[in-house]
Amino acid sequence: MTAAFKISLPNGLNYDQPTGLFIDNEYVPANGEKFTVYNPTTDEEIITLQGASEEDVDKAVAAARRAFDGEWSELEAVERGALLYKLAELIDRDRKLLASIDSFDNGKSFSDAYGGDLLESYNVFRYYAGAADKITGKTIETSHKKLAYVLQEPLGVCGQIIPWNYPFMMLAWKVAPALACGNTIVLKPAEQTPLSALYFGKLIVEAGFPPGVVNIIPGLGYISGKALAGHMDVDKIAFTGSTATGRSIMKSAASNLKNITLECGGKSPSIVFEDADLDQAVKWCHSGIMDNMGQVCTSTSRIYVQDTIYDEFLAKFTEKTKEAATKIGDPFHEDTYQGPQVSKAQFDKVLSYIDEGKKSGARVLHGGAKHGDKGYFIQPTVFADTTEDMKIVKEEIFGPVVAISKFSTEAEVIAKANDTSYGLAAAVFTQKVTKAHKVARKIQAGMVFINSSGDSHFGIPFGGYKSSGIGRELGQYALDAYTQSKAVHVNLGTEL
Ligand code: NAI
Ligand code: MG
Repeated sequence: MTAAFKISLPNGLNYDQPTGLFIDNEYVPANGEKFTVYNPTTDEEIITLQGASEEDVDKAVAAARRAFDGEWSELEAVERGALLYKLAELIDRDRKLLASIDSFDNGKSFSDAYGGDLLESYNVFRYYAGAADKITGKTIETSHKKLAYVLQEPLGVCGQIIPWNYPFMMLAWKVAPALACGNTIVLKPAEQTPLSALYFGKLIVEAGFPPGVVNIIPGLGYISGKALAGHMDVDKIAFTGSTATGRSIMKSAASNLKNITLECGGKSPSIVFEDADLDQAVKWCHSGIMDNMGQVCTSTSRIYVQDTIYDEFLAKFTEKTKEAATKIGDPFHEDTYQGPQVSKAQFDKVLSYIDEGKKSGARVLHGGAKHGDKGYFIQPTVFADTTEDMKIVKEEIFGPVVAISKFSTEAEVIAKANDTSYGLAAAVFTQKVTKAHKVARKIQAGMVFINSSGDSHFGIPFGGYKSSGIGRELGQYALDAYTQSKAVHVNLGTEL
């Protein structure tokens, strides 16, 4: 067993943070590279952990394989569901602690973590707890003498590599459906935010899961993540993160033709037509890019406004941004809307895009610099009059930075909206019902929000077109993503 580390959270909660790797229901020492987890609010070190080495990844995969071949596969689906229900209740019991941990090492506001991420995680576990015994195949009569039926079977050992922007919720989106379908798991949390995932191991034990069903291996992407993605005894890789890393994971996964689900980057457009309810459009366009410090894969980071209402929109959007900017600060303060970016690397990256935007001639309506002198805070930054060739319009920034420009016709804005290698989400603002649905169809994206932004729901498929990913998470779609079909042909006759 590894020693637990005492952590005192800013809101007064104290807890024992497990360290090491969680394999076979025990915390064991890791042998890989060390990495440090920071508090982004203060730039202070929280803890230095040792990550999983390639040999550690082998150990975790072997544990997951033993569990898959053994005890776990012998459980009835209804028993898997019962374990998932138990786990959901433990998450609910520890909701305040888990939300505090995510707020601490990620920098997101506690109220978002508690009211958003952790509530969603609880619901996701309950949804898939209920789904465990409702996974069904089909029966197909192929002729009068033959019958075929299709079994939906688990894939086996699933490697899951998750990012830092919704640490616990990304775990929930991946772990819950994989377990409901009868798979076993090796989960690699992001090196910036591994604490709540490591703590989750305790809940796995308490819920009563057999050893090896869920294994958790913090570590660096290019070591532990890469080893997991390329491992010959892993059957699936599910990943959320950047498109560049998604591409490299896909290459690693080619080693044994793993099943893959990739949920990658985006540069999603909001389209505001002149017949939109302007105040509503401003509100949703603002939250669509500024929520979670702009660190959302579906962030609507390009806004196209019809020329007739462009100036009015800019004035209202700037006003809204100014008002929200008064609520930058300590994530644990109840009024805080915007905390710090997750890491020094992300902080530097976002600031360099802001510089790039200024150099390229975009007009700064708000922000344009870091906020304060401590931590990784950035002023919400609004660029107007941007053009399609600018880097800030083309590339994912993943920060509180938006590029606004105008259009005159529907055809023009659809062409602009689709002029990107990404295709994750899009928002359309109009009061005309036919226009809304027509435009929704023409947008090349996995998700479209009408008079809204940032929507996701555990029952609805989540994922992207083009370079935004492969496959879908959540809903019934995730059950397909974590099973494979086996066709069984039955001969009812006697003739060849
Ligand atoms: P990343 O995509 O490199 O990291 C995400 C996860 O992948 C982490 O767990 C990391 O350890 C792992 N990883 C990294 N390299 C790997 C490899 N070669 N093989 C296997 N696993 C690997 O993202 P990063 O570096 O944290 O952020 C860079 C950019 O990615 C952000 O600025 C943002 O644009 C984008 N991003 C998108 C997210 C989304 O929700 N789609 C989430 C996080 C980042
Ligand atoms: Mg990276």
